[in-house]
Amino acid sequence: MDYSNLKVPNHVALIVDGNGRWATERGLSRSKGHEQGFVNVKKLSRYIFSKGINYLSAYLFSTENFKRSKAEVDFLMNLLTGRMKDILDFCREDKIKVVFSGRREGLSDKVMKTILEIEDETKDYDKVFNLCFNYGGHAEIVDATKKIVNDVESGKLNIDDLNEDNYSHYLYQDLPPVDLLIRTSGEMRLSNFLLWQVSYAEFYFPKTYFPDFDEKEFDKAIIEYTKRDRRFGGINYEDKSN
Ligand code: IPE
Ligand code: IPE
Ligand code: MG
Repeated sequence: MDYSNLKVPNHVALIVDGNGRWATERGLSRSKGHEQGFVNVKKLSRYIFSKGINYLSAYLFSTENFKRSKAEVDFLMNLLTGRMKDILDFCREDKIKVVFSGRREGLSDKVMKTILEIEDETKDYDKVFNLCFNYGGHAEIVDATKKIVNDVESGKLNIDDLNEDNYSHYLYQDLPPVDLLIRTSGEMRLSNFLLWQVSYAEFYFPKTYFPDFDEKEFDKAIIEYTKRDRRFGGINYEDKSN
């Protein structure tokens, strides 16, 4: 679809959800749903970047997802390492920087090695693909607070210089605010995703399960986003009759 008459968000955040239900409804194992989800992450993210979006954050595994069975957790970890090459290939080709948000503790050496390699290989590019893995919004804020305390104690930061603009330097990645947040599968909650960054994001909750959330579905999200009146606490006077 042609986006020239649409508003294109700078930063899109995507909560990948519904892989399990997609599979179960087809009589397949949840693993098949995750596999299909990963195929779609690659296809959809490539499309999203091709449309002029500069930042994409994808929620792939939360700090809370460790509550799932060991078999499912292991499967997801292996999927990440196994499929990372696909992501790296297109990011190299399309010049997209891959960064990682999440707690590094708790991830295996293999997962960490894969992440560090891909971050290093793509570090000179400008567009950013933020992979959120072992990520939790509370964990991110707690970890940022610890970094701030360290910098204050070592004299690197004067506490009076900390403000709403520079706080993000202490988050896992220093990214611009999220403009559009999409969560597939009909769930209408954040589940601990990017709590700091979504403060003024527009939310979009399609019913479609993630493996079926294709380019056309994304186009619909952008059409809806274009219609939203973003006020940021102010008033768009030209839109008002009085
Ligand atoms: C999203 O799909 C992927 C992860 C959270 C890792 P789910 O696995 O949450 O799928 P549903 O919500 O059970 O359908
Ligand atoms: C949120 O989805 C986490 C990811 C998409 C990675 P969940 O499926 O884990 O969230 P809840 O449990 O339904 O809130
Ligand atoms: Mg889910």
